[in-house]
Amino acid sequence: MKTSGITAETRSVGPLDRAVIFLGPPGAGKGTQAKELAGKFSVPHLSTGDMLRENIAKNTSLGQLAKPIMARGELVPDSLVLRMVAERIEKPDCWHGFVFDGFPRTVAQAQFLGVLLAQHGYKPPLVVHLAIDPALVLRRITGRRTCKVGGEIYNIFDRPPKVEGICDLDGGHLDQRPDDREEIVAPRLAAYEKQTAPLVAYYKRLGRLHSVDASQSVPDVMKRINEIVSAAT
Ligand code: AP5
Repeated sequence: MKTSGITAETRSVGPLDRAVIFLGPPGAGKGTQAKELAGKFSVPHLSTGDMLRENIAKNTSLGQLAKPIMARGELVPDSLVLRMVAERIEKPDCWHGFVFDGFPRTVAQAQFLGVLLAQHGYKPPLVVHLAIDPALVLRRITGRRTCKVGGEIYNIFDRPPKVEGICDLDGGHLDQRPDDREEIVAPRLAAYEKQTAPLVAYYKRLGRLHSVDASQSVPDVMKRINEIVSAAT
């Protein structure tokens, strides 16, 4: 594996200086909360889903491989995701920490990340598990609309924009993700249960897991996350 040689000694220490990982089923609110937390600490919000969608939009070779897999609601193979993440966290904007949204998603990804973080001299990651009954996420997923310009996340049922289809912040058009159609939600939840849910036990064993009731309102979930992160920094 390629590394830039960044270590704890060569990085200057910022206020977060670690990876925060958001873990939870589709629609739990990982993107909503990760974006906010990353903004608060001025560190990058690293959504592997967004990175893959960007590759699809640019029609890269990775995007071409990922597109049909994501359309079926399955996970993209570890080897492809790991290379993408390893390259991304080499960039200087990651030196003071970063917030992962949707990564790691398998035990193999978590093990790889543990090695990568240790090599770069980061403190052990803080894992926020957004726990929610899968029955509650369908409305969130099918109602989600995302701004094409700035990525702001809305929900037509619970968090609508002021003008239908238009972002309040930058006037961008609001899109529905292809995998947010109702028929793709079941395979996405099944992939979560089979491949990602074991990470809850994995990080619990390592003493890194903090569970939050994600069925509460966005501000209430945010408040709880801020308490957890403040206690750890
Ligand atoms: P990804 O883009 O990561 O999607 P996901 O995990 O399915 O999660 P979502 O983005 O659907 O939900 P979220 O938890 O971020 O919720 P959000 O905040 O948007 O992955 C997509 C695909 O990419 C995968 O299926 C896979 O193929 C591939 N992939 C990505 N990473 C991979 C990896 N590491 N390995 C392999 N493959 C990978 O909120 C959802 C909605 O709910 C919004 O409308 C929001 O406004 C609303 N909402 C949020 N919080 C609340 C709340 N508290 N109360 C009410 N509404 C809320």
